[in-house]
Amino acid sequence: MNNVVLVGFMGSGKSTVGRVLAERTNRSFVDLDDEIAADAGRSVAEIFADEGEAGFRQREAQSLRRALDKQDIIVAAGGGAPLADENWRRMREGNCVVSLMAQPVELARRLNGSKGRPLLQPDVPSAIATLLPNRLSRYAAADLVIATDGRKPDEVAHDIESRLPRSGIHRIAVDVPGASHEVTIGQHLPNLVGETVKRMAPSQPVVIVSDRVIIKQHLRPLADALKSMDITAIPVSVPSGEPAKELDALAAIYAELARIGIDRQGCVIALGGGTVGDVAGFAAATWMRGIRYIQMPTTLLAMVDSSIGGKTAINLPAGKNLVGAVRQPAAIFSDIEYLDSLPNEEYRAALAEVVKAGMIADRRFVEWLAANIAGLLQRDNDSLDEAIRWAIRIKAEVVARDPAETGERAILNYGHTVGHALERAAGYGTVRHGEAVAWGMEVAARISVLTATCQAEDVTVQHMLLQQAGLLARRPTVKPLDLLSAMQHDKKSRAGKPRWVLLREVGRAEYGCEVDEAIVWMALREVLGI
Ligand SMILES: NC(=O)c1ccc[n+]([C@@H]2O[C@H](COP(=O)([O-])OP(=O)(O)OC[C@H]3O[C@@H](n4cnc5c(N)ncnc54)[C@H](O)[C@@H]3O)[C@@H](O)[C@H]2O)c1
Ligand SMILES: [Zn+2]
Repeated sequence: MNNVVLVGFMGSGKSTVGRVLAERTNRSFVDLDDEIAADAGRSVAEIFADEGEAGFRQREAQSLRRALDKQDIIVAAGGGAPLADENWRRMREGNCVVSLMAQPVELARRLNGSKGRPLLQPDVPSAIATLLPNRLSRYAAADLVIATDGRKPDEVAHDIESRLPRSGIHRIAVDVPGASHEVTIGQHLPNLVGETVKRMAPSQPVVIVSDRVIIKQHLRPLADALKSMDITAIPVSVPSGEPAKELDALAAIYAELARIGIDRQGCVIALGGGTVGDVAGFAAATWMRGIRYIQMPTTLLAMVDSSIGGKTAINLPAGKNLVGAVRQPAAIFSDIEYLDSLPNEEYRAALAEVVKAGMIADRRFVEWLAANIAGLLQRDNDSLDEAIRWAIRIKAEVVARDPAETGERAILNYGHTVGHALERAAGYGTVRHGEAVAWGMEVAARISVLTATCQAEDVTVQHMLLQQAGLLARRPTVKPLDLLSAMQHDKKSRAGKPRWVLLREVGRAEYGCEVDEAIVWMALREVLGI
């Protein structure tokens, strides 16, 4: 975990740069070829001679596994190591992969006269010409791709050091058929975003949609990282909060895309909370019938919920999220550092969605939350990192199984039948979404007990967690009839009858449930006092 893995062709400088980088960052250094030779008690050339390339590759995979079990080290991997999918997967899990690149002539110059490299046959230029083309796409897919031509090892090491994330990075696949992508979670990720943009849209500016608050606080490091990679980034500002999702804000984004001349190869970055993600995603989903976009969530809610799943939407005066599209992002980068500036109320409100994820899908997560809620409330980095990853994994799995919400994805709406209705009945902006959802979860849990789909003990942990997060401190005041009418408006209702997501037990929910109106009223009265 939290290792840096250097990959690249022979002669790209992995061992030399690796040693300098290790010294600069105060980490240990492992040269994989040296490890393999030490383990075998023979040189790499001898292993090739005795066991062939296949034998060497087997030893290489073993040594790599052992090296990556360590923490905070710099590993120089052999030039062919990243080609095996299993090695590549291991290199990336929890670690940052950096590839060192050089032009073939430069590689040939550096490798001239080198000994003990069995693959440099029959001569250096021919070996480069045969091997390099097959390896380039893997090298280019690294988190950071560093050109080394004409640069001293110290300079290259300094460059890498300044671009590295601050801690280990984690990746969660969102395996939506035909639109599979990854969530990268870590700290200080703008340089990794830059590499992704460079791979996706190398020839045109990238548009960063963000709101005024975030532009002021967080745009700079991202813009600088993109600039350092010669990517032109053009920020487009939308208002902060729900007004970002109004038609005017959307029109302003379209106008900017037109002015810059973004075509179908273009790319949009959504840097912000759920509102920015929704409007920027919708703009991307509809511009030229759909272009690629990257989600960079800056709120806890956006990290654990709205950035995943590809739902995008804007609001109309007639209602929230009435116009929308489902389009998966090309990538999601959840940089936890952004949360440092997030106001406490926003942070706490999002914990409702975190608790929701556990209650509907994973008992172990709920148990973990119960044991770690204090740390989470204090924003302890390790607890936060763990909770975010867990919640993302849950949503990613549900979405991958049912991207178009024809079935199971509906469980994510647990607590939202009453939650959305409370927001609507109280007037948007009066009650925070997370607080409304917390109350909605309490009502849904109560209904689950009243209809005997779930045991009373199973809902107490939810109550305790929401209460500790301070989400049940104030009962929202709404008129019963307003709430009822808002519930009938719910997008998930059928013929004006809401469909409920109810609990079966901690970690298991059921969707599409019809509930007798008398029971709904009873639960509303007991929980909300109306
Ligand atoms: N697409 C989906 O699947 C989905 C799911 C859930 C919610 N949503 C939508 O998400 C929206 C709510 O998202 P949200 O809660 O992130 O709200 P938001 O985007 O309005 O952000 C909340 C506030 O925090 C500020 N902010 C954002 N990041 C900050 C940071 N790092 N530091 C300081 N301030 C910061 C914003 O400027 C804003 O004022 C709603 O519109 C909802 O409909 C969408
Ligand atoms: Zn929600």
